[in-house]
Amino acid sequence: MDENECVAYSNSSGSATVNSRTILFEDKSKSKMQTRVVYGALFVLIVAVLALVIALAVVATQNKDTTSGGADVDGGSSSSGQTGSEGTDLPVVDCSYAASNLDKAKCVLDSYPLVDGHNDLPYRYRRYSNTAVYTVDLTSDLRKTWNTNLSHTDIPRLRKGKLGAQFWACYVPCKSQYKDAVLLSLEQLDVIKKYVTRYPDTFQWVTTAQGILDAFKMGKIGSLVGLEGGHSIDSSFGSLRMFYDLGVRYMTVTHSCNTPWADNWRQDAPDYNETADEKPLGGLTDFGKQVILEMNRIGMLVDLAHVAKATMVSTLAIARAPVIYSHSSAFALCNHYRNVQDDVLKLTKTNGGLVMVNFYDKYVTCYPMNGTESTLAHVAAPYPYPETESMRCWEGQFSQGMYVLLNYESHHIDYIKNLIGVDHVGIGADYDDVSTYPALFAELVRRGWNEADLQKLAGRNLIRVLRQAEKVKAEMSHEAPHEDMLPFEVAAPEEVCHTRLDTW
Ligand SMILES: *[C@@H]1O[C@H](CO)[C@@H](O)[C@H](O)[C@H]1NC(C)=O
Ligand SMILES: *[C@@H]1O[C@H](CO)[C@@H](O)[C@H](O)[C@H]1NC(C)=O
Ligand SMILES: *[C@@H]1O[C@H](CO)[C@@H](O)[C@H](O)[C@H]1NC(C)=O
Repeated sequence: MDENECVAYSNSSGSATVNSRTILFEDKSKSKMQTRVVYGALFVLIVAVLALVIALAVVATQNKDTTSGGADVDGGSSSSGQTGSEGTDLPVVDCSYAASNLDKAKCVLDSYPLVDGHNDLPYRYRRYSNTAVYTVDLTSDLRKTWNTNLSHTDIPRLRKGKLGAQFWACYVPCKSQYKDAVLLSLEQLDVIKKYVTRYPDTFQWVTTAQGILDAFKMGKIGSLVGLEGGHSIDSSFGSLRMFYDLGVRYMTVTHSCNTPWADNWRQDAPDYNETADEKPLGGLTDFGKQVILEMNRIGMLVDLAHVAKATMVSTLAIARAPVIYSHSSAFALCNHYRNVQDDVLKLTKTNGGLVMVNFYDKYVTCYPMNGTESTLAHVAAPYPYPETESMRCWEGQFSQGMYVLLNYESHHIDYIKNLIGVDHVGIGADYDDVSTYPALFAELVRRGWNEADLQKLAGRNLIRVLRQAEKVKAEMSHEAPHEDMLPFEVAAPEEVCHTRLDTW
């Protein structure tokens, strides 16, 4: 309504960026007078710290007798990886100078990398340019280049969205299972490596938690890979390990089809047809359990987006490292079976894991939110939340669908935070317009989120989880690789595409 308010809003955004970088990295000099005061304060501080250390030592000695075993009894105490004790991390930022919610959001996103769990740009290259990267200008508006609104990602919008790091989805369709899924997955991984290489000022190849922070400090978008579906390894521990060696850092246990060893979410859906559809396996089979443990052993994150509830439960019972849901929302707010149910959310807290909330309207606005899909009707009456400053003033760039979606979607984030804690929620947008993250964060600022919690949502939680997976890998390094194989007929029911080598 008030146009001046919006002008002030966008004018101040540039300085917000500069200020927050300054606060983090500038080394301020001090006058001599100040130096004396500082030495005095330092002395007092040292005495205080010494006293604290002695007190802690006493407490620790007393506790030794009472606590032993270390088993996780309840959810609250279990997240041993949460302190992120290894490697460096970035400090909590103070954005109190920010003049608006959007300025505060930008300040936070300049202080800590926003790590998004899922983006399907690689498959867009497959669909719209037959995997060619060098004939497509990623610095242009890809909606125009490819003449489709399905293209939510290009470099200008990534930068406007202040993305810090991205798990690029290495996805191939379920119909390639038992056929050329491994080949096609390798080609998708090659697509990712090509565009990361082609735009070195924008992207940096990353395979570790520390690498995300290092890329961010250099102003680059850390680029990681998630393999979206267990069908991509064709029931082979060998291909799983080789995908890790090629840089893949999570695997979604299934896509929307069963593998021979794990159930997908469709098993749970009301339209599941037991005559026509795949037979349930009861979650993970014994082989599936070995896949999870092998992923833990090699340091690959286990992603439970797309799997059946039974698969989530079986995985959480055996996983040695925290799991992620790379792009899933809250079932209690939208009863799509791609989403995570409350009891599983609680198990995920116990596991120390992370739900990276999906923006896709089908997973965000269904019952009991009762939105159908984003429509003009919703825009006319953006139910159930009022229009907010961050949305009204977003430089006119919101698509109408997005305008509505942000309301619902941030509600999912709050819901998960309130149910299991801010340490277990992140962002896995699933190719919504990547320029709109600052508006989302501004909306969360409006709802009272502080800088520390916003940094956790953005990336600190993911970095904690990845560090813990790296730690588990180190702990399991003495264990031998899994070498079992499924019977040929189970692993390769469509024999025509596989070579029998178990007979001479
Ligand atoms: C994209 O969406 C806009 C706004 O809804 C519409 O005007 C345009 O025709 C769409 N473009 C394509 C290629 O579908
Ligand atoms: C389930 O699938 C079978 C086989 O395709 C079909 O005949 C049947 O009508 C389906 N049942 C329902 C409830 O849709
Ligand atoms: C959605 O509809 C159901 C009835 O079908 C109602 O009980 C529920 O309160 C509605 N949810 C919202 C957010 O209005």
